[in-house]
Amino acid sequence: MVKVGIIGLGGMGNMHFGIYEGLPGAEVVALADVEEERLKPGASSTAFNLGEGAAVIDPQRHRTYSDPGELLRDPEVDLVDICLPTYLHAECTISAIEAGKNVLCEKPMALSTKECQRVLDALEGKDVKLMIAQCIRFWPEYAYLKETVESGRMGRLCSARFWRGCSSPDWTWRHWMKDAELSGGAVLDLNVHDADFVHYLLGRPKAVCSTGAIGPSGGYDIVETVYVYEDKISVCSGANMALPPAFGFEMRYLASFEKGCLAFSSANTPALMEIAESSSTHPELRHTDGYHEELAYLVKCIENDELPGVVTPESAAFSIELVEAEVRSIETGQVVEL
Ligand SMILES: NC(=O)c1ccc[n+]([C@@H]2O[C@H](COP(=O)([O-])OP(=O)(O)OC[C@H]3O[C@@H](n4cnc5c(N)ncnc54)[C@H](O)[C@@H]3O)[C@@H](O)[C@H]2O)c1
Repeated sequence: MVKVGIIGLGGMGNMHFGIYEGLPGAEVVALADVEEERLKPGASSTAFNLGEGAAVIDPQRHRTYSDPGELLRDPEVDLVDICLPTYLHAECTISAIEAGKNVLCEKPMALSTKECQRVLDALEGKDVKLMIAQCIRFWPEYAYLKETVESGRMGRLCSARFWRGCSSPDWTWRHWMKDAELSGGAVLDLNVHDADFVHYLLGRPKAVCSTGAIGPSGGYDIVETVYVYEDKISVCSGANMALPPAFGFEMRYLASFEKGCLAFSSANTPALMEIAESSSTHPELRHTDGYHEELAYLVKCIENDELPGVVTPESAAFSIELVEAEVRSIETGQVVEL
């Protein structure tokens, strides 16, 4: 049984809490948050745009700490799950590694490549597992796209266009997400999902070319990027975190192959369509999501003492390098080589 301690009980921390509580092989034993209100017996889920966690704090089963350092010193905790605001990711991940814990840290890995390097340095020679929660790698419709590309059953991939958007978040703790200094704005917070998936799917691009617009966070809350590859393939991504609240949240992709295309939108029912010359079908995928899949995967890796190869720390760090290249491209108006 993997004993889990969660740090940060906001939207994502509560989501993870709810998932672990139903996951065979995992048991939440400790919770930490600076807001004592969030640690009270019976406290549960802070609403955010992706639904609510389902778990409730039970003092018989969950030790609570207002200081994350105490959770890191809790000898029963095997896996520390960091769901803190992004500006605290690197520092907390390093402390958890130094405390000898396995770590899951929410995406993005850190605010900058410099911080990512500090995390990678801290990991060097340590017998612990670190996975960054790049949940899109585990999302059934995106995993289906990867399988389709790799199997070649629809022929060669010719183009892929990824996009996600929502309103400027009003739900985060002290509005940290609305400050690009703390969140990185949409180019980091939202676009990292698609930048990450692009290189997971197709390898490292040669260069990026981006445009962007400043939004409510004071950073680039609207971004469009073209990823340049050696072979003749057209790949781009977009993100917008400056939409009206009534928009809700949507992620989508359109991937076209020699023999058809895959069209996915989280706003559609059915969400995924496979379209060939004269037919269109709805692939039956498992009823799950990337959050459940990533946590189940990491718990299995820890149980089996295997490194989590689906998201290595180095590949998650490269996603931050890509985002930084996108920002340089926006600011210089140039194609940025990688
Ligand atoms: N994978 C995804 O799809 C996804 C979706 C949403 C958020 N996220 C990521 O999850 C992370 C958390 O986002 P969120 O929406 O849950 O934020 P949030 O503001 O809802 O929650 C943050 C929590 O951290 C606590 N906190 C702040 N400072 C602390 C400290 N020093 N010590 C202990 N607790 C502290 C706050 O009290 C709050 O409960 C972010 O990095 C975000 O990018 C990922």
